[in-house]
Amino acid sequence: MKHLLSIESLQRQEIYEILELADSMKGTRGHHDWLPLAGQCWGLIFSKSSTRTRVSFEVGIRELGGSVLFLSAADIQLGRGEPIEDTARVMGRLLDGAVIRTFRQSDVEVFAEYSQIPTINALTDDEHPCQILADLQTIREKLGGVEGRSVCFIGDGACNVAASWLWAAAKLDFELRIAAPAAFQPSPDLLERLGRQARVVLLEDPMEAAKGADVLYTDVWVSMGKEEETAHRLSALAPYQINETLLTQAAPKALVMHCLPAYRGKEISAETFELHADTLFDQAENRLHAQKAVLQLVAGRR
Ligand code: CP
Ligand code: NVA
Repeated sequence: MKHLLSIESLQRQEIYEILELADSMKGTRGHHDWLPLAGQCWGLIFSKSSTRTRVSFEVGIRELGGSVLFLSAADIQLGRGEPIEDTARVMGRLLDGAVIRTFRQSDVEVFAEYSQIPTINALTDDEHPCQILADLQTIREKLGGVEGRSVCFIGDGACNVAASWLWAAAKLDFELRIAAPAAFQPSPDLLERLGRQARVVLLEDPMEAAKGADVLYTDVWVSMGKEEETAHRLSALAPYQINETLLTQAAPKALVMHCLPAYRGKEISAETFELHADTLFDQAENRLHAQKAVLQLVAGRR
């Protein structure tokens, strides 16, 4: 594995390899006897806001022995129109790896091609692979694995996090239900690309979608870059809140998950958020462990 550009581009076996290593990273945190990034300098190039992804990558790279530069896209010439191809070729001469948060998926792919250094997608409009790897680690810890389970994604089924979940369903053996209004369902093009092995069920009724589900998952209703659509989104997605009423439909002891940041009273009620805070913050912590696994795998094969 040279890059992590998407869940789409991962093989099933690579996902399991990452999850195994993520568990080991978690178990040995603070007393690693190996430093796979020793002597390396990584760059974090972010065009969008971040708390969890930025901090977990900065901490993870340091814990693996590397050093890190945070580069806000607005502060480098990229923000003034320097092409991604040129930025990538410069970074490729200077850095050992890059973690990129941006809008277009193609920008991460072009960066990887032109820089020739390990490149990790830290969220694009199309995918959020690091998030889903941490989520899978969390589900393994709490339910023994996602295999044979039903995961219900509720809300904006056309967002990046939902798309990465769809690709996870195409690689692993579980049922993914998307509960969303028709306008917020995944695109027909994406559904076709997933292939037949993906067990995906599209539903508009959240109560029906939640029936017997092992995991109820949500994300913000207004993803970064969609702010102009806020009023329409809040109104269209209002019936898709995870709350105690919806949870009555799910399996007993169903997990409630959210990639965070969370907007209480919108995609999740304040009460349900606090009742499931342990899971939600385990998910956030697991970003560190899952990403350290990815860093070791992409950095170790150069
Ligand atoms: N879940 C997630 O990626 O959070 P940040 O936007 O804070 O990085
Ligand atoms: N779908 C959200 C995820 C935030 C972590 C966004 O893109 O803003």
